[in-house]
Amino acid sequence: MRALTVAPLETDSVRVSEVEAPAAGEGELLVDGIALGICGTDREIARGDYGWAPPGQDRLILGHESLGRVREAPGGSGFAPGDLVVGVVRRPDPEPCGACAHGEFDMCRNGRYTERGIKDRHGFGAQQWTVEADYAVKLDPALERVGVLLEPTTVVTKAWEHIERIGARAWFAPRRVLVTGAGPIGLLAALLGVQRGLEVHVLDRAASGVKPELVAALGASYHTGTIPEVAAEAEPDVVIEATGATAVVLDAVTHTASAGIVCLTGIPAAGPKVGVDTGALNREMVLENDVVFGSVNANLRHFRLAAEALARADLAWLERLITRRLPLSRAHEAFTPQEDDVKVVIDL
Ligand code: BGC
Repeated sequence: MRALTVAPLETDSVRVSEVEAPAAGEGELLVDGIALGICGTDREIARGDYGWAPPGQDRLILGHESLGRVREAPGGSGFAPGDLVVGVVRRPDPEPCGACAHGEFDMCRNGRYTERGIKDRHGFGAQQWTVEADYAVKLDPALERVGVLLEPTTVVTKAWEHIERIGARAWFAPRRVLVTGAGPIGLLAALLGVQRGLEVHVLDRAASGVKPELVAALGASYHTGTIPEVAAEAEPDVVIEATGATAVVLDAVTHTASAGIVCLTGIPAAGPKVGVDTGALNREMVLENDVVFGSVNANLRHFRLAAEALARADLAWLERLITRRLPLSRAHEAFTPQEDDVKVVIDL
């Protein structure tokens, strides 16, 4: 079978390789890959900046945004051949730390977690893959064209859950949210904001194209100005930052509302250094009870909640988020972003 592989930390080593088909071990599903989503982390791995092959191997099967159809399932697993499934990305560290021991491996304390397609475990970018039934999530059969969006949806499901848990520290009745960045994470965060009945504002650089249309179709407001301008107008209770761009991040953390919650979801490269008036920032955060926090990855609870959120969303809207679909033979094209791309998907 064919798989999308990479030699981690080597530049431009992405290949479609012939690899041995996997066999399901005890408690595992054998899955026919349908589609694979490509995100910034995959591009980082493809560039040679990130990623770890499984111990003792040179190449990693790439891919953590999965969608497949069950071919074989063990009896009593709750899965049957034909089911649409997505695999969970992260596995607990071997120790395990307290968070991992509680199933919250997305909050792993010692960093020894592993991740499919990213860290020490082969990913889902293959015509067939296996997954432990305990780390697979069944999707509504209607999601066949868009279920590949589940993993990025889990990332924002976790972000929203944590925003609500932080909000619950005191009286909390948010009305408006500002999402910075109209990529897949930003747009899915906006979708979940709309599903929560909030007034949603999305800020992005693109002045035309599919992004403003997608935001309008959600019933949300689209902005191309700066955070200070938009924040003055929209007065957001919550900001979800999804660009990772230094200037935007700085504006997001320095223009919060009183008791504002800012969730950072971008994963930028380090540098360059910028000057910050920490005294002013500290003063404002304390005097306004502000919270700025980071959020990454997701656990099984988030995968299940995200599957419900996708099933409730408008299928046509979700389909428009997938702006390019490539056959596996042209997978390398997915690593060069194009103007107006939202989500690029490889058909397996
Ligand atoms: C994935 C997360 C993962 C993170 C860091 C993201 O792109 O969505 O699941 O934890 O990269 O490896």
